[in-house]
Amino acid sequence: NPNETEKQEESYNNHLLATLPKDKGWRSETVFQYKGFWLSSQVVKGLLLIHNHFNPQPTDIFLSAFMKCGTTWLKALMFATANRHRYKFSNHPLLRTGPHSAFPFLDTHIFLDHPITNFDHLPVPRLFATHFAHDLLPTSITSTCKFVYVCRDPKDALISKWHFMSKIRSKELAPLSFNEAYELFCNGVSEYGPFWDHVLGYWKASQESPDKILFLKYEEMKREPAVELKKLAAFMGMAFTAEEEDQGVVEEIVKLCSFENLSNLEVNKDGGGGQKFTEKVVVENQEFFRKGMVGDWKNYLTEEMKERIDFITADKLKNSGLTL
Ligand code: A3P
Repeated sequence: NPNETEKQEESYNNHLLATLPKDKGWRSETVFQYKGFWLSSQVVKGLLLIHNHFNPQPTDIFLSAFMKCGTTWLKALMFATANRHRYKFSNHPLLRTGPHSAFPFLDTHIFLDHPITNFDHLPVPRLFATHFAHDLLPTSITSTCKFVYVCRDPKDALISKWHFMSKIRSKELAPLSFNEAYELFCNGVSEYGPFWDHVLGYWKASQESPDKILFLKYEEMKREPAVELKKLAAFMGMAFTAEEEDQGVVEEIVKLCSFENLSNLEVNKDGGGGQKFTEKVVVENQEFFRKGMVGDWKNYLTEEMKERIDFITADKLKNSGLTL
């Protein structure tokens, strides 16, 4: 009986939430610490639904990232790459729809069509996005599916996240000051964080199984988008042929998915449309595009603030072989 299952799940959720450590949320009032990571009550629910109901297929490919590290860009690139034989670049769905309609964001999409969404209609390979840390996901997913992970300088992720969360923060709540957000971020308290544990989880998994996890950096993608896109396509099992390269397909996709192109489309401007995450959370497409540059933190952080984050980063990543 689906209603019965739903009721049981709801009561389990409420019971579980009551037992978890709490702290201040950036969008909603509270975040909960679940297995080492800070999550909103909505995505705790999403995670439990994923564990109980999601059936991974070996061909599924996940895009994973901490918030504001490049999901929008990678979503567009992965969708355009996977579907390059299906659409013309001059009349591409990405030109008409927000970048987030390209494929589902699993964390909340799983309960968008009550009680659970069926993903069987998606073309193979099915593409999914998530912000969940590697260790929070069921091993049925992490041991079978491929993952593309994108990370970014934590200082830029912090600035981007504070702007974004301030825009979508519940109107009933007092604004979150930048200084407060900075403190919370450094202490690891922000939705899906701590940032460093998130990155390290995927980094370690990618070192153990490089064929299963492709680890990308926003800054490297900015520097050499075509090189990174070719890596991405090969990893997805859809490498560009010599003929496609000659025809300029790589450059077409880079151009289609560039910040300049996407952020200037009507659909991604004020009033162009939005993305529904949950009943309550609808985000305008334009909020996913701000500056799209490397190093904007310089406009916000004092030398002391910069030093502190760099120190945490060096400390957390020491001996990992990863630098950010
Ligand atoms: P800024 O706020 O620093 O500008 P996410 O997509 O993970 O939510 O991250 C959003 C960040 O990526 C924002 O960073 C946004 O401007 C930037 N971004 C969005 N689309 C992009 C694209 N096509 N190319 C490069 N950066 C992009």
